[in-house]
Parts: sequence; structure tokens; C-alpha cells
Amino acid sequence: MFRYIFTLGIIIAIMGLSASFTTITEDDPGFKNLKILPKNITEEQLDSVMDSFKASLGVKCSFCHAMDPDTSKGRHFDFASDAKPAKEKAREMLQMTAYLNATYFNPHQSTRPDTLNTVICFTCHRGTKEPVASSLFPQLDSIMVEQHRKH
Ligand code: HEC
Ligand code: HEC
Repeated sequence: MFRYIFTLGIIIAIMGLSASFTTITEDDPGFKNLKILPKNITEEQLDSVMDSFKASLGVKCSFCHAMDPDTSKGRHFDFASDAKPAKEKAREMLQMTAYLNATYFNPHQSTRPDTLNTVICFTCHRGTKEPVASSLFPQLDSIMVEQHRKH
């Protein structure tokens, strides 16, 4: 699990830094439609990011990815397709997350990516598609009641 979070953090961090700072230098694995993630991301890294999306939102790949309408070779995903609105939403969320980390959690303009992954998808989502702060209030509430009792 640590590996997943770490990979996503690094990738988000790289996106938040200048283009000159890039540690991903493997061969182009041939993804066709990456607009936000680094184009030369490795297959393993992309898998980690996608798995972390899945876990953070509590969804399956099909929540964001459409099936290929051509079923002559059986049913399979067309991962490059942008037919599902959730995919575009996820792109916006990726940009927002990278922006938050770079702008608010990197006061000393560090070039160390590991200091830049304060906010990840799971920070807000916690396994749900549409996180609302009020769903976390009961948790906060009970902690506050507990603390109040101690003092
Ligand atoms: C929350 C939405 C979301 C979920 C869930 C998700 N993906 Fe993605 N996926 C994206 C987005 C957004 C992109 C494009 C990123 C970009 O533009 O840089 C993408 C891109 C991809 C690509 C690259 C396609 C190409 O050629 O451009 C593959 C492969 C992929 N996803 C596989 C998966 C798999 C497998 C799963 C399930 C384990 C999965 N995704 C789950 C949002 C999602
Ligand atoms: C600062 C909090 C926050 C973070 C961080 C965040 N999200 Fe979200 N996300 C939300 C909220 C709130 C909603 C529901 C409101 C909306 O749809 O605009 C949402 C909605 C979405 C949706 C649409 C869900 C639907 O039902 O259609 C997708 C997809 C999504 N987020 C993906 C991501 C991914 C992927 C990441 C990490 C790269 C991420 N989010 C990080 C707060 C966040």
C-alpha cells in the first residue's frame, strides 16, 4: 500500500514542479491520451496511480473508463477514450491536488518530491465518489466529546 501512495505522491509532486525536474526516464510505454500525467510515465507507475484512484473513490475502472464500442474482438475497455465525464473530472482533480501541494504545502520551494504529497485523492474521498465534509463530522464530533471528558 505504501508503494501506491508513494508513487502517486511522487507523480503529483513532479507535476507540481517545473518541467526541468523530472525523474521518470523510461521508454515511452505508448499511452495515447495523457493530458495531465507525465507522457513518459511507466506502465507500473500508471497502474499504481489508477489503483489508487480506484481505492480512493471506492469505484471500479469502469467508473471513469468507457468500453470500446467495437465488440468484434469481444468486450474490452478503451482506456484512451474520454467518453465518460468522470474521467475529465478526475483530470481536474489531479490538477487541483498538484496545485494544492505545490502552492500551500511547499513553502520553501523544495525540490524533494517526498515533501510534496500532503494532499492525495484519499485525503478528501476516503473511499467515496462524492465526499462531503459533513460525513466526517460525526467522527470529529466524537473525538471532541472524548477530549472534553478528559479535561
Ligand atoms: C477516478 C477515475 C479513474 C479511475 C477509477 C481509473 N482511471 Fe484510468 N485514467 C483516468 C484518467 C483521468 C486518465 C488520463 C490521465 C491524463 O490525462 O493524464 C486515465 C488513463 C488511463 C490509461 C491510459 C490510457 C491512454 O492510452 O491514454 C490507462 C491504461 C488506464 N487509465 C487504466 C485504468 C485501469 C486499469 C483502471 C482500474 C484499475 C483505471 N484506469 C481506473 C481516470 C481513472
Ligand atoms: C480537496 C478535496 C478533494 C480532493 C483532494 C480530491 N477530490 Fe475528487 N471530489 C471532491 C468533492 C467534494 C467531489 C464532489 C463534488 C464535485 O463533484 O465537484 C469530488 C468529485 C470527484 C469526482 C466526480 C465523482 C462523481 O460522482 O462523478 C471524481 C471522478 C473525483 N473527484 C476524482 C478525484 C481524484 C482522482 C482525486 C485525486 C487526484 C481527487 N478527486 C481529489 C473533493 C476532492
